Amino acid sequence: AKQFRVHHFAQAREKGSKITALTAYDAVTARIFDDAGIDVLLVGDSIGNVMHGHDSTLPVTVEDLIPPARAVARAAGRAFVVVDMPFGSYESGPEQALGTAVRFMKETGVAAVKLEGGARVAGQIRAITQAGIPVIGHLGYTPQSIHALGGPRVQGRDSAADELRADLAAVAEAGACAVVLEMVPAPLAGELTTASPIPTIGIGAGHGCDGQILVWTDMAGMSAWAPRFARRFGEVGTALREAAQDYAGAVRSGDFPGDEHSFQK
Ligand code: KIV
Ligand code: NA
Repeated sequence: AKQFRVHHFAQAREKGSKITALTAYDAVTARIFDDAGIDVLLVGDSIGNVMHGHDSTLPVTVEDLIPPARAVARAAGRAFVVVDMPFGSYESGPEQALGTAVRFMKETGVAAVKLEGGARVAGQIRAITQAGIPVIGHLGYTPQSIHALGGPRVQGRDSAADELRADLAAVAEAGACAVVLEMVPAPLAGELTTASPIPTIGIGAGHGCDGQILVWTDMAGMSAWAPRFARRFGEVGTALREAAQDYAGAVRSGDFPGDEHSFQK
């Protein structure tokens, strides 16, 4: 199938076809999601929580993200691959942000970068997009600000809605090709989407967004806990544990390997 490219975000929205996105952190899952027809694969800094055992995304570095970004970019055929700009790699200003984005583009083969924040990072988004690098914004609950926001909490309630509106306008004006809305009340996310010049991709933001993203391990049911906004579309964790148990049982009983898995000469 035809590659999903930067103009397909706006095109999907015009056609009214939802944009589908998942995180991916390695080649084996990226290949599966690409085969499944997922439009966008995000090498998210959620790798810190999901794969590296941290309790936030704050410790994740550019060096942590380069190998997985390379692996996902190599494995993807059709999907648009995006890497997160990690905490500390863009806040200082447009120059730092551009340096980080250029490094990702040179060293990984991804098609775009994503960064968190609204008006406060508009200069960064502008510098990166003006260098010819697509940028995706991220508003609402932004996990890199977990301590300032008092934990994973719904954003944009009451008077905070105006700030969210202004942030979305700033991100779009700065040149972002799409924006993630995380943990925003569904009616507000719908209203923001209608008013937005660029497509919105929701996570915990209701069905009114132009697309949806989930952390793949939440989507697939890999762990006992997942956020309330994630639906388990599979029980892959259980399936994997059972496969490992069956394997161990077959080894212990002598049932594996059989003749068909052995070389006779
Ligand atoms: O890092 C991540 O997984 C994300 C998505 C949840 C949007 O930023
Ligand atoms: Na992220």
